[in-house]
Amino acid sequence: MSVELNVATISVLLLLMLASTANALTRVFDVRNYGAKPNLDITQAVTRAWKDACAYPGSSKVVVPAATYRVGTVIFLGPCKGPIEFNVLGSIHSPGDPKYFTGDNWISFARIDHLTVSGTGDFDGQGRTAWGRSGCSKTSYCIHLPISLRFDYITNSIVRDITSYNSKQFHINVFGCKNLTFDHVTIRAPQNSPNTDGIHIGRSTKVNVINSKISTGDDCISLGDGSRDILIQGVNCGPGHGISIGSLGKYHNEQPVSGVRVIGCTLTNTMTGVRVKTWPNSYPGSAFDLHFENIIMNNVDTPILIDQGYCPWNQCKREIPSQIKISNVSFKNIKGTSRTKNAVEIICSKALPCQKVELRDIDLKYNGKDGPATSRCAHVTPLIGGYQNPRACTVVA
Ligand SMILES: *[C@@H]1O[C@H](CO)[C@@H](O)[C@H](O)[C@H]1NC(C)=O
Ligand SMILES: *[C@@H]1O[C@H](CO)[C@@H](O)[C@H](O)[C@H]1NC(C)=O
Repeated sequence: MSVELNVATISVLLLLMLASTANALTRVFDVRNYGAKPNLDITQAVTRAWKDACAYPGSSKVVVPAATYRVGTVIFLGPCKGPIEFNVLGSIHSPGDPKYFTGDNWISFARIDHLTVSGTGDFDGQGRTAWGRSGCSKTSYCIHLPISLRFDYITNSIVRDITSYNSKQFHINVFGCKNLTFDHVTIRAPQNSPNTDGIHIGRSTKVNVINSKISTGDDCISLGDGSRDILIQGVNCGPGHGISIGSLGKYHNEQPVSGVRVIGCTLTNTMTGVRVKTWPNSYPGSAFDLHFENIIMNNVDTPILIDQGYCPWNQCKREIPSQIKISNVSFKNIKGTSRTKNAVEIICSKALPCQKVELRDIDLKYNGKDGPATSRCAHVTPLIGGYQNPRACTVVA
């Protein structure tokens, strides 16, 4: 039998060979080879597996197989000698007792280039033991609770498919990162769990959160100062507090927030939909180039909100206006239902009115007795286009 080797078949063969070589070059570091046993604490095993993988001069992969394991505080630290993957197929459980933690971190990834965190497994923060404390949201008590997953100074990396359950504090915190994508990530905690933000991003450039589902007790995704070039697309939020920029202006030397696009997301039973919040009596700062487009709101308390007088628990001097300049903001094609009549609120700073705010094709229905829905505006003259329900700036404050 003769085989005709034409150019096409040769290229296919070459591709197959290349693919299998790339695969063969990935060295697997299975935690079981470091003594990990189901249902036991594997902190030592996973730390040693990481160290070996990180030192391996090629592609490496740490594997946590399908079983339940317990892990205490760990920092997976780079830089590594090659691209590295952390593949979780099992369920990784945190220590339950908050007293175990001396800092505000459980699992951290730091200073790594080309990291992949993958797998159908999960990180379970065992948060129930921490949420019960009364006054958690009013005092600093929550600050000392651990964030489940920290990404510090991570570049050119991807986190995909994993699930985070019941964090004690935030689920995921991103700081000092550049080019980091979260794809198909699931986050789950009950609506009444305090301070359990889904993904908080700060001081980072080019972070994408796509195709993900976040149900939690606080913000779905929150963007702190220095968030630049952020894409949030195809994300389902709810319950929780919605997608937030801010709160900004509380601290000295905050960096601008810029280049934020929230596209094709659905918010269900959340407190707000998309919002920008800044403190009154604030330090100077800015937020610009913020775009919210093709968003569905299902039974959201306040679907569209700019609040430059954000002052929870009256901790601030409301009468002194915010010094955060908000400009170049668009809300386009935002539809669905509002749970209160305040469907749209754009309350800008008296000292620095918002500039270049656009409302286009807004359709937010409110069916309560005190209806219809209103749109309240202060210190802003939005550019209005397309359909508007409620009528844009029905109430000018
Ligand atoms: C961003 O990171 C991804 C994932 O590692 C990589 O494929 C891509 O090339 C990076 N982009 C740039 C501009 O470096
Ligand atoms: C305003 O937003 C548009 C759309 O993203 C962007 O192209 C433009 O550069 C922005 N301008 C400023 C001044 O931020």
